[in-house]
Amino acid sequence: MDRIRIGGGNELNGEIPISGAKNAALPLMIASLLTAETLTLKNLPRLADVQLLKRILHNHGVDQRTDGKRAGQCSQAGETVHFTAADIVDTTAPYNLVSKMRASFWVLGPLLTRFHDTRVSLPGGCAIGTRPVDFYLMALRELGAELDIENGYVVAKAPGGLKGNRITFPMVSVGATHTALMAATLAKGETVIENAAREPEVIDVAECLVKMGAKIDGIGTSTLTIQGVDELHGATHEVLADRIETGTYAMAVAMTGGDVTLRGGRPDNLNSMISVLEQAGATIDVEDNGMRIRRNGNGLKPVDVETQPYPGFPTDLQAQFMALMTRAGGTSVIRETIFENRFMHVQELARLGADISLSGDTATVKGVDQLHGAEVMATDLRASVSLVIAALAAEGESMLHRVYHLDRGFETLEDKLSACGADISRISD
Ligand code: UD1
Repeated sequence: MDRIRIGGGNELNGEIPISGAKNAALPLMIASLLTAETLTLKNLPRLADVQLLKRILHNHGVDQRTDGKRAGQCSQAGETVHFTAADIVDTTAPYNLVSKMRASFWVLGPLLTRFHDTRVSLPGGCAIGTRPVDFYLMALRELGAELDIENGYVVAKAPGGLKGNRITFPMVSVGATHTALMAATLAKGETVIENAAREPEVIDVAECLVKMGAKIDGIGTSTLTIQGVDELHGATHEVLADRIETGTYAMAVAMTGGDVTLRGGRPDNLNSMISVLEQAGATIDVEDNGMRIRRNGNGLKPVDVETQPYPGFPTDLQAQFMALMTRAGGTSVIRETIFENRFMHVQELARLGADISLSGDTATVKGVDQLHGAEVMATDLRASVSLVIAALAAEGESMLHRVYHLDRGFETLEDKLSACGADISRISD
């Protein structure tokens, strides 16, 4: 199993190219199931989760063709893949694939609305909370689906097709919004989704669906109105830049000090994080094609943060921000309101010398003068990268185990960081 070795203490200086967003790429790939024509996706990140979803789509019978490298393309440019779901051979999404990644459960909406009959295994994924699927099932039932849970599978039928209706989510859910939105595109009549997620990745998917012929009003707001159409068609869409990857590297630079341009990053999708990092003492400049982050000389100030659905501070940056606050000159309070078990990085950060106490959904972080290198273990995707951030600023050497968590969501992380001066390398046994 791969490990990552990090020698702490180097500043980061230079440029980091930002990849396509994992959380947009996955639902965009799933949207290819909605049409018999070809959906071409550009800027797909090379990530383990994308590879796994390719296997799941392949299993359903989706043809996939990847463009070769083009002249002048930088080595870290994303892939262009053509997905064609003309001959679906199987509408079952099996346990052995869906249990590895929660987002693969999202095939439920498109398969049901297009084929009126599907079986999808209940999901797995990061162990950051109970993560139920009740909102997904409620939404599809509102659209007229007949749903049963049998032997760990959701068995869904919609004889005659789904019918538009009003869906009001009790709480903001990204995945349930994707599912309801995709299902509604081919449902008969009008669907109104209230309390919809407004995450940039939901907007990216909605914009792609419009290119495919869907009729959607209210994109970017919490009320989406969809007029169902008989069929969708092919389209070409470029995956949005990853705001979580952008935010993660911004925090790494705030942690180590230095001056880095995050090329292609979209600061307009990171306003809450930018304001928090500025309060913590970093300088951020919005540029034409990205953002520049600097911290020179001055120490880090403590800032209190509470995670919220977009446009609030993202839960997917909570662990990284906690790593940053371990070195602040004072005490910060971090409250996690989205997932109930998203503090598994706390005990690993403690191995590096962090002083963090937990009470319910709140972590109190007392800044320390110095972190010290140690052996640490990745426990989930975002937690793993918080350990990288802490180790980059720790005295001495750290070893990160179980890096397969990291590979699910961060493309060539060691290359991107070492190009900016970090002492980081992968050890493959
Ligand atoms: C997506 C993101 C994940 C991010 C999360 C919140 C992808 C691939 N993953 O995950 O990175 O951390 O949004 O921004 O895009 N809930 C229910 N019942 C449901 C569905 C959700 O109670 O049926 C709860 C969840 O347990 C959680 C909250 O709603 O407490 C929000 O979760 P949700 O937005 O659904 O997260 P995901 O879509 O799984």
